[in-house]
Amino acid sequence: MTVMDPVVPLELPGHDEPGTKAPLLRTLRLALPARRRLALSILLGATAVAAAIGLMATSAWLISRASQHPTETVLTTAICAVEFFGLTRGLARYGERLVGHDAAFRVLGDVRVTIYERLERLAPAGLPAFRRGDLLSRLVQDVEDLQDLMVRVIPPFAIALVVGIATVALVWWLLPAAGLVLLVALVLAATVVPWLTGALARRSQARQAAERGALTAAVVDLLAGVQDLTAFGGTEAQLDRIAHHDTELTTIAAASARTAGIGLGLTTLLTGLATWGALLVGVTAVHQERMPGVQLAVLALVPLAAFEIVVGLPTATEALERVRRSADRVFAVLDTPVPVREPDDPVALPAGADELRVTGLRARHPGAESAALDGVDLTLAPGRRVAVVGPSGSGKTTLANVLLRFVDYEAGSVTLGGVELDRLDGDDVRSVVGLVADDAHLFDTTLVANLRIGRRDATDDECYAVLEEVGLLEWVGALPKGLKTRVGEDGVRLSGGQRQRVALARALLADFPVLLLDEPTAHLEPAAAAALTADLLDVTRHRSTLFITHRLLGLEEVDEIVVIDAGRVVERGTHDLLMAADGRYARLWWRELEMV
Ligand SMILES: Nc1ncnc2c1ncn2[C@@H]1O[C@H](COP(=O)(O)OP(=O)(O)OP(=O)(O)O)[C@@H](O)[C@H]1O
Ligand SMILES: [Mg+2]
Repeated sequence: MTVMDPVVPLELPGHDEPGTKAPLLRTLRLALPARRRLALSILLGATAVAAAIGLMATSAWLISRASQHPTETVLTTAICAVEFFGLTRGLARYGERLVGHDAAFRVLGDVRVTIYERLERLAPAGLPAFRRGDLLSRLVQDVEDLQDLMVRVIPPFAIALVVGIATVALVWWLLPAAGLVLLVALVLAATVVPWLTGALARRSQARQAAERGALTAAVVDLLAGVQDLTAFGGTEAQLDRIAHHDTELTTIAAASARTAGIGLGLTTLLTGLATWGALLVGVTAVHQERMPGVQLAVLALVPLAAFEIVVGLPTATEALERVRRSADRVFAVLDTPVPVREPDDPVALPAGADELRVTGLRARHPGAESAALDGVDLTLAPGRRVAVVGPSGSGKTTLANVLLRFVDYEAGSVTLGGVELDRLDGDDVRSVVGLVADDAHLFDTTLVANLRIGRRDATDDECYAVLEEVGLLEWVGALPKGLKTRVGEDGVRLSGGQRQRVALARALLADFPVLLLDEPTAHLEPAAAAALTADLLDVTRHRSTLFITHRLLGLEEVDEIVVIDAGRVVERGTHDLLMAADGRYARLWWRELEMV
């Protein structure tokens, strides 16, 4: 039996990259701070290649000249020159690699930090534009590809130009006709061959970066959803999808190798032709006594060495193509509009700011047609607790996100300590307003490390104190490793309730003046939810707390209950007032009571 295809939602969105303007120029601009190192590496690279050609020329001359039994001085000088060129080549090559990679890694580091800073701004509201695995591939592999511009593209072309001209000039000086032969062969090898491989590469590489992103995304999906996929029998289909991307990538890699092979073959052919051509005109010149015979070996062997400067160019054009594709994907992340505009000139947060006042708030998610919140009023005075209740999709999480500066608001006003929120720096706001989300993330490390995310310098005793507040002290005491217990990826080794309590303890440790709790009991069964709600209300007494929940039971002691529906406040008041009013809240409350 075929199960209804459970992997349909995992289908690739199949959107084409938007295509950034002048991705190469922008990559170059990123490399600007490393320009001195880059120039030095090109200089060293040119020295290494020039030394290789010099080595070949002097050795060829030495061998021919030796047959004429010259004086010892001539021989020693020539041997010294050979040794000099040999040593220089090795040292310069080493220096070039060192300096070039150093420059590239510095730029990579900067680019990664820039992207990370952008992601920090985009998350959490802006990230749905990218799939997790794809984003990972952009951040790691695509950024890494950018370094090729500085290591594999610019230096080979620059070196080929400089050393090529010098070598042609040298051969021209020995015999103009041979210089001409070398010039033609080098120009062909530096233009036609790379152009051809470039054209071939464009075809095969058009999809490489995107495929790589899709493969990573599919693997991450598989790993994240392995339980559901296994339960619904969808593992095979997902594995097929991964295999498909893998095959595509293999095909692309094979095409890339073929292109490189064609480039190398053509260059080798041109090397042979240039050597033959030089020999031909050289032999004629020696016959006509226009050139001494000893120079013939130099004419024949220099082209062999000279082709070292063009042999890397086909790979360079292929790398150029790869850099362009990857740069497109990297800049797509950097160009994603931030969901929240930070003020150019932020106002300093007033000391002790802990009062939140919301009036006529309207907020819309980026790209959404209608507003998720419209005309919400709410005041969270110091030490007060306000509960926000409402059906799924009514805008409760959106409200929390606005208060945390994760989502912008388009009308109305939100003030923290009397200052309009959009005039404050987002990080400042989040230093006052803390969140415990319904799916709080625990990191795959120890319990105590997860707690200390709240406050880095918290002592063990302080950790025990907050664990006691959230009712976990006994549990931790019974663990063989206590605070050092590892919680597993996403906290899998804890129960849902324990996870939420740890998240709450972390927020208590951070001691935010204003605490937002978004559905902390969302994933718990009724008894555990009731117990956690009671504990939450206990520990938040005298703390400014906005308690977002879909559970109405147990809210008797909060100062105000705000009922929202479709982004609007439909009822508000204390539990007693709302029950007396016998409206929406009272109806839902009775229904919930019947269910437990
Ligand atoms: N990132 C987003 N982009 C676009 N629309 C969004 C986004 N997040 C939420 N919405 C929409 O905004 C509205 C309010 O969503 P919100 O998450 O605030 O609801 P909620 O009250 O928290 O629901 P629940 O009780 O299910 O958590 C919904 O219509 C939802 O589809
Ligand atoms: Mg929600």
